[in-house]
Amino acid sequence: MSRWAVVVAAGKGERAGLGGNKVFFPVGGRSVLARCLDAFERCGRFDGIALVLSEADEPAFAALSGREGPFPLVKAIARGGATRRDSVRNGLKALPEDCENVAIHDAARPFVPDAVIEATMESAERFGSGVICTPVVDTIKQIMPDGRVVSPERDSLRAVQTPQAFDYRKILAAHERALEEDLPVTDDAMLFEHYYGGVSLVTAEGAEANKKLTTKADFDALNAVGTPDFRVGQGYDVHRLVEGRKLILCGVDISWEKGLDGHSDADVAVHALMDALLGALGLGDIGRHFPDTDSAYRGADSMKLLDAVMGMVRERGYRVGNADVTIVAQRPKLAPYIEDMRANLARGLGVDVARVNVKATTTERLGFEGESLGISAQAVALLVK
Ligand code: CTP
Ligand code: MG
Repeated sequence: MSRWAVVVAAGKGERAGLGGNKVFFPVGGRSVLARCLDAFERCGRFDGIALVLSEADEPAFAALSGREGPFPLVKAIARGGATRRDSVRNGLKALPEDCENVAIHDAARPFVPDAVIEATMESAERFGSGVICTPVVDTIKQIMPDGRVVSPERDSLRAVQTPQAFDYRKILAAHERALEEDLPVTDDAMLFEHYYGGVSLVTAEGAEANKKLTTKADFDALNAVGTPDFRVGQGYDVHRLVEGRKLILCGVDISWEKGLDGHSDADVAVHALMDALLGALGLGDIGRHFPDTDSAYRGADSMKLLDAVMGMVRERGYRVGNADVTIVAQRPKLAPYIEDMRANLARGLGVDVARVNVKATTTERLGFEGESLGISAQAVALLVK
């Protein structure tokens, strides 16, 4: 006794308008058909898959197997027919004699969760059929033959998807009779209802994710979210400590006997952060954008310069994912100022404070920071398109 899946992929995908059968096109970097076959592999319940392909697509499948395969569970290839019903019948005829239950699935539903496949197969094993369904969220109107519009009670309606699993002998016999009698049906469950008086509907967690990809918009939406554009940048800056200057770090005025020397307010931490942002954008460094030979930047408030850099970030369609700044200073003790620093930077970056981290460290009195000759700062920032 064995369990099989029939995956039908022999359509033309006309509504998707991609210039070929939609199941060979990628969503999030992997083809629709490969994702669908993955789902049946992962489930671990099947002895084999009969994949139904049109003759014209056989080279495309060979190429796909080389690129994204192998697909060891695909043990039979059947030829597609003029209608989906014909394709399913050909797939069923390709299964071995000892097949007991079969799950019929549209290749155009690549996100079928395990729980959905399991639920339909379990139902087929117990009751002879198992058809995945979801509650209907819209109110449905039915147009009667005489033109009258009626409203079926929504609670009694279900939308059905694939997989639809059946006792193999029964569904094969139903398909053969339907061919003789030319029975018009849109899914296999309709055939089963017609000849055996009903089907078992099942629900399962995640069925809403089991969407059929039909239009170009379905592909565009998935590919837009499937390929995030991240940029990361790093920055480093040093300023000398001198007497008679204010000490400003992350826009916070810190009272101390010394301050940082520089052309602007010498906010070394904000400078490192700006360099990280410019680095992520591939735009060089602050020296290039705010040269210290330009008198416009004498005594400049570095938080204002950060606003200008954030303008460049936004202009290019990015936002800040997170930022992390390390200030290296032997003295003064910075811990009491850290939360104000984070809040300032978060405001400047236009993000929640949880996305900004500021830390301070000493160097155990080693080096120029340890001798309080200067303060250095390092920063990393992640940008998201
Ligand atoms: N299918 C098939 N044989 C056919 C028609 C459809 O195997 N003669 C398959 C499709 O490949 C798809 C599933 O049935 O996996 C559901 O059909 P649909 O979403 O309508 O896909 P297409 O028929 O390919 O698309 P379109 O109707 O837009 O041309
Ligand atoms: Mg179709």
